[in-house]
Amino acid sequence: MYKLELKDVTHVYGARTPFEKTALRSVNIGFETGLVTGLIGHTGSGKSTLVQMMNGLIRPTKGTVLLDGKDIWEKPKEIRSVRFRVGLVMQYPEYQLFDETVGKDIGFALRNKGCSEETIKEKVTEAAERVGLSPAMLSKSPFDLSGGQRRRAAIAGVLVMDPEVLVLDEPAAGLDPRGRAEILGYLYRYRETKGATVILVSHSMEDMAQYCDRVAVMRDGEVYADGTTDEIFSDPDRLLGAGMDVPEVMKVALELKKRGIALEGRLYTVEGVRDAVLRSLGKGGAV
Ligand SMILES: Nc1ncnc2c1ncn2[C@@H]1O[C@H](COP(=O)(O)OP(=O)(O)OP(=O)(O)O)[C@@H](O)[C@H]1O
Ligand SMILES: [Mg+2]
Repeated sequence: MYKLELKDVTHVYGARTPFEKTALRSVNIGFETGLVTGLIGHTGSGKSTLVQMMNGLIRPTKGTVLLDGKDIWEKPKEIRSVRFRVGLVMQYPEYQLFDETVGKDIGFALRNKGCSEETIKEKVTEAAERVGLSPAMLSKSPFDLSGGQRRRAAIAGVLVMDPEVLVLDEPAAGLDPRGRAEILGYLYRYRETKGATVILVSHSMEDMAQYCDRVAVMRDGEVYADGTTDEIFSDPDRLLGAGMDVPEVMKVALELKKRGIALEGRLYTVEGVRDAVLRSLGKGGAV
């Protein structure tokens, strides 16, 4: 059984208005416990709509969303409990910080849930640490933080709920390469320590190649391709044909292959290409 599954999900914005827009069309996709699944696709392909369905922020026009095999909309009044189990970090979440201090902001969901101040304090400190924010930051105003720190605080505000499923909509967008690697590294560790199921939306094929066990490619409101990372990158022509990109290092490998160099293996990561080149040169595998 999937941890989270979307069955035959369709979503129409502004139905029966001049602005009607079908954002998702009969989407079927499942997410396995403990795996990181990447969602990639052009702007407007439906990624954000899809992820907002996962925690019940958007209700599908048609179809069902199952969490541990149970329809999350079975009892609409209980949808709030789903939001604690499926943590969603929205696109540019730092704009949603509003509380007096960073600590209060991170603890907002727990306070709402009625946790004791002692539990809140403990969990907030732990969540801040998980994203590399020092305890000294917790008493500052969110507006005194840098953009990158604000992003971390917003992510901590979701991690603080210990979600079983963590859904991230472009968590590293707009950050410099070091900030990106740090944030994605923290999230990856959250998965490792909690055994959480992670869904990562990103525009970057490099992120898909580096962090994801599985990849789903969205196109015009449909799932265009869905498989293990190996499977998805084993057919680069399919990605390129659909106007998608492949990791930069894979382009180099494909160019070398075109020039007659026999390369085999995980040609979508730097290490994979390095090993393939060494094998091809007859030096035998890893350095
Ligand atoms: N609130 C809304 N009202 C009307 N149409 C919307 C709304 N939100 C999204 N859409 C439309 O639905 C489609 C899917 O949008 P969505 O935001 O899910 O795509 P996306 O893949 O997340 O794009 P991006 O990569 O730009 O974040 C787009 O055509 C978009 O214009
Ligand atoms: Mg989006």
